[in-house]
Amino acid sequence: MVIAIDGPAASGKGTLARRLADHLGLPHLDTGLLYRAVARDLLDRREALEAPDLAAAAAGALDLGRLDDPRLRERHMGEAASIVSAFPTVRSALLSLQRRFAEREGGAVLDGRDIGTVVCPAAKLKLFVTASPEERARRRLRELRGNGEATAYEAVLDDIRRRDERDSSRSAAPLRVAADAVVVDTTSLDADGAFARALAIVHALDAPARAG
Ligand code: DC
Repeated sequence: MVIAIDGPAASGKGTLARRLADHLGLPHLDTGLLYRAVARDLLDRREALEAPDLAAAAAGALDLGRLDDPRLRERHMGEAASIVSAFPTVRSALLSLQRRFAEREGGAVLDGRDIGTVVCPAAKLKLFVTASPEERARRRLRELRGNGEATAYEAVLDDIRRRDERDSSRSAAPLRVAADAVVVDTTSLDADGAFARALAIVHALDAPARAG
């Protein structure tokens, strides 16, 4: 079973994807890390984030063995990833890699912005996980502080709003709800509540098959 989980920054989609994957015994790919890694490689080489050719070359040469780099979780890397992810050439360089991951036997869970709309349009289950910008900023702030990054709430809220705007308004695979996605609003749900809601949706999918 392929599960596609999309949503804006800090909506809780990553935590939910990881927990669902663990529970169902499926491999998980956080596709945001791919865009963050492209941005990191450009920044490491002191190359411009705004140059589509350089960004596409970095995407084509991406080393998947370096996705556990803690720097990828830093605040400025999210912003940099959002910039490079708007280039269609970067997106197409990363597309086949994501599709190969999704085509593994038994299925997979992928989370990102365009999984249900572009990467895995035939996914058995599509979730669109969202929450208010203020709640997402509070969560991201906790996460950044947990990683030792000192940041103010207002700065994080500004980041979130800017990223929402850029990720939703780009012409290549913008963030949007797939027509057949189930929307899960986690504004007033904690991680356990979001997981329970998602699991109920998974079980409801299986129910007709079991009944038959
Ligand atoms: O999910 P994240 O915050 O790690 O993503 C970082 C940026 O990468 C996000 O602002 C937009 C981009 N991204 C994307 O365009 N498509 C995806 N499937 C995942 C992330």
